Amino acid sequence: MVPTDLVVSLDRAQGRRYPLGKQLVDELRRRVQAGALGPGERLPPVRGMATSLKVTPETVANAYKRLVDEGYLRGEVGRGTFVAAPPLRAEEDPLAPFEAGGSLPPFTNPRNHELLRLANRPGVVSFAASVAAPDLAPVEALRAALSDTLRDDGASALQVGATQGYPPLRAAIAGLLEERGLHVDESAVCITSGCQQGIDLAAKVFVSPGDAVLVEQPSFLGALEAFRARGARIVGAPIESDGLRVEALPALIQRHRPKLLYCMPTYQNPTGRSLSAEKRRMLLRIAATYDLPIVEDDSAGFFPLDVDSPAQPSLKSEDHAGYVIHLGTFSKLIGAGLRLGWLVADAAVYDKLVAAKYASDLSSDALVQRAAFRLLESGALQTHVALARESYRLRRDALLNALRQPGALPQGAHFNAPSGGFNLWLDLPRHGPTSTELFLEAVRRGVAFVPGPFFFSAGGGGPASPAALRGLRLSYSALVPEALERGVRLLAEALRALASSARSAEAVVY
Ligand SMILES: Cc1ncc(COP(=O)(O)O)c(C=O)c1O
Repeated sequence: MVPTDLVVSLDRAQGRRYPLGKQLVDELRRRVQAGALGPGERLPPVRGMATSLKVTPETVANAYKRLVDEGYLRGEVGRGTFVAAPPLRAEEDPLAPFEAGGSLPPFTNPRNHELLRLANRPGVVSFAASVAAPDLAPVEALRAALSDTLRDDGASALQVGATQGYPPLRAAIAGLLEERGLHVDESAVCITSGCQQGIDLAAKVFVSPGDAVLVEQPSFLGALEAFRARGARIVGAPIESDGLRVEALPALIQRHRPKLLYCMPTYQNPTGRSLSAEKRRMLLRIAATYDLPIVEDDSAGFFPLDVDSPAQPSLKSEDHAGYVIHLGTFSKLIGAGLRLGWLVADAAVYDKLVAAKYASDLSSDALVQRAAFRLLESGALQTHVALARESYRLRRDALLNALRQPGALPQGAHFNAPSGGFNLWLDLPRHGPTSTELFLEAVRRGVAFVPGPFFFSAGGGGPASPAALRGLRLSYSALVPEALERGVRLLAEALRALASSARSAEAVVY
C-alpha cells in the first residue's frame, strides 16, 4: 500500500511523449527537492508502488535506480529504498565553488566554514564531529548538579570568581589528573574556558607576529587557527605510527627557531596516534636542549579504548624542568558546550597564562565550574566517562569492522586502528579522488567527514601535499554502530561513483 502522501498520478495520455517511468522519476525528484519527502523516509516497495501506479515493477525499479544514481535516494540491501540527504540544487549549490580545483582555500576563508557546515545538514551521517557523544550526555546528572548549585550557593554562583578558577574545582581536577600520571598541587591548575582557550593563552604569552610555532602535521584545526591569528609562521613536523617524528625536530628548531611546540601526544587529533614512551623522553630532552616550551593538548587522554593498552601517562608527568603546559577539557568528558577546561603549568609560566586569561575573559563561568565540581565530587562524572569509553570502544570497532568489509575501500587505501580517542585517519590511494573531491561526492550522498587539507598548515607539507590531499578524518564517537555502518556504505558508494566516472578509472581497483 502506498502512503497517501506518496500517491503519484501519472499522465497516461502523455505516456507516448513523456514516458511513465520518466514522469515517476521527475515527480519523486521534485518532491525530494521540495522537502515533501524528507531525508530517511522509506519509499514504498517496488511491487507495491508498481501495483498502485499500474506500471511494471521494472519501471519503478528503474526510476528508483536512476534517483539513487542522482543521489536523491539511497538503497539499503534488505531494508528498502530511502530518501537520501537532500541534494543540492545547482543554482544554490554551496559545493560549487569547491568543485573546480579539488583543493581548499585557507580555513579563514568563510567558504570553508560553509563547507564543514554541510556536514550538519539533517539526514547526513557525519563522521566530522570529534566530540563527546551527544546521545550519551549526562543531562540528568548535570541538571541536578546545576540545580543543587543554585539551591545551595545562590547568588555566589553568579559572581565572577578568581581568574584561576573555583578553588574546589581546581583541587578536584588535580585529583582527576592522577589518572593521567600527573601529581600536581591545585595551585598549578587554572580553569580555562575550554582547551581552545588554553591554546590561545599559550599563543598570546609565547608567540608574536612572524614567530614560528611547531606543530604536528596534521594537527588540530582550532590550534592552527589560534596560531594563525597571532600571525605565527606554522612549521609542521610529520606524524608516524608512534606519533610525532621527534628525530626531525632538532633540524626544524635550528632552522626556524620556534617559540612553542604544540602537540597531542595521546590519541592525537586527527590521526588517533600516540607518542611512544621513548619518544616522550626524547621530546622532553629536546625541549630542555633548545629551551622550547611545549603545549601538551591532552583532550583525549581519558579515553583509552583497549583494556590491554592503557593510555601513556601525560607528557607533563615526566616534565621535571617545567617546559610543558598541560591542557585538558570537559568538552570530551561531558560536552563542548560547557566551555570548561583546565591548564597545568609551572609557576613562572602559570602567572603569565593567568594574566593573559584575565585579559581574555576575567574568569570562566562560575555556575558551570561549581556544577562540574559537584559531578566530580560525587563520582558521577567518572561513572559517565567509564560508560562513554565503553560505547566509544564499540563504535570504534563497528567503524573498523565496516571499513574492513570487502569492497568498502579501494585497494591502496589504508587506515590506522586507534587505541583511544575519537578519530581514525584514512589515506585514500594515490591514484583516485582527493579527500576533498570525495567529500563533495559524499555530502551529496548523505555522508560527511573532514577532508585532509583542514588539518595541514602551509609550512612543511602544506594543504596541497599528498598526505593532506589523500587523507581524511573519520570521527566515530558521536555515531551509533548502525549509523557508522550506513556511513561507510554511503562512503563506499561515493568512492565507487567517483571511480566509475573518473577518466583514470582503471587506476582505482576494488
Ligand atoms: C584536540 C583538541 N583540542 C582542543 C579542542 C577544543 O576543546 P575545547 O572545546 O575544550 O575548547 C578540541 C575540540 O574538538 C580538540 O579536538
